Amino acid sequence: MSDNPLSVESETSSAGDSRPRRGIKSYVLRAGRMTVAQTRGLEEVWPRLGLSVVDGPLNLDALFGRAAPRVVEIGFGMGASLIEQVQAHPETDFIGIEVHAPGVGKLLDEADKRQLSNLRVYREDALEVLSRCIPEASLDGLQLFFPDPWPKKKHHKRRIVQPTFVELVRTRLKPGGTLHMATDWQAYAEHMSEVMAAAPGYRNTAAEGDYVARPAFRPLTKFESRGAKLGHGVWDLLFARTD
Ligand SMILES: C[S@@+](CC[C@H](N)C(=O)[O-])C[C@H]1O[C@@H](n2cnc3c(N)ncnc32)[C@H](O)[C@@H]1O
Repeated sequence: MSDNPLSVESETSSAGDSRPRRGIKSYVLRAGRMTVAQTRGLEEVWPRLGLSVVDGPLNLDALFGRAAPRVVEIGFGMGASLIEQVQAHPETDFIGIEVHAPGVGKLLDEADKRQLSNLRVYREDALEVLSRCIPEASLDGLQLFFPDPWPKKKHHKRRIVQPTFVELVRTRLKPGGTLHMATDWQAYAEHMSEVMAAAPGYRNTAAEGDYVARPAFRPLTKFESRGAKLGHGVWDLLFARTD
């Protein structure tokens, strides 16, 4: 995106040139009104915690000023679950990636109010960020919580979980690092299981079956607890990189 974090994103490459974006997107950019706090996040906090793909590969130790465990969360939405993890785990550095401007603004505003320094944020396509900015074998974890399920068959190609995606993630994880996915859409959970079963270089950490119980480090979101009361299921998948 451009240097101005409030600019409207165009359908051009995030490298800032006029090439069309490559491939099919896993998201639709929605126009949404920004609250005062979200605008403050994007205008005032972004210069300190925001990152851009055009700046290229990260040196994570230099970025955070220390060596520490590193976790990336893709598609954090309004950031409710990510901000709790960032606060609960000051010993870990987090990088959030989200294309939705109000969510990015909200997360930045909250991070500033809570004086959290172990967080950086991209407002760009996670595939671009992973391939162009995150070094190989640098992550202890990658989280993908409730990605857009794209339920219609003609839209399945838009699902972010695809063989090429999980292979890209594998290269960014350290050996032993984990890919943690959660969804409340059973058909998407089954799709995730199929993709992971066929993916080389991963081990399913589930003791039994395909899924794990929600690990304590994934905070329960309001959306999820509401769904649970209505009897909706949630499926967590936790895979570790083996090679
Ligand atoms: C269904 S929402 C879930 C949000 C949040 N994780 C939660 O549990 O409430 C999925 C989010 O992923 C984001 N997203 C989808 N594809 C993305 C991509 N390629 N890069 C960055 N964000 C993406 C969307 O903008 C959306 O906010």
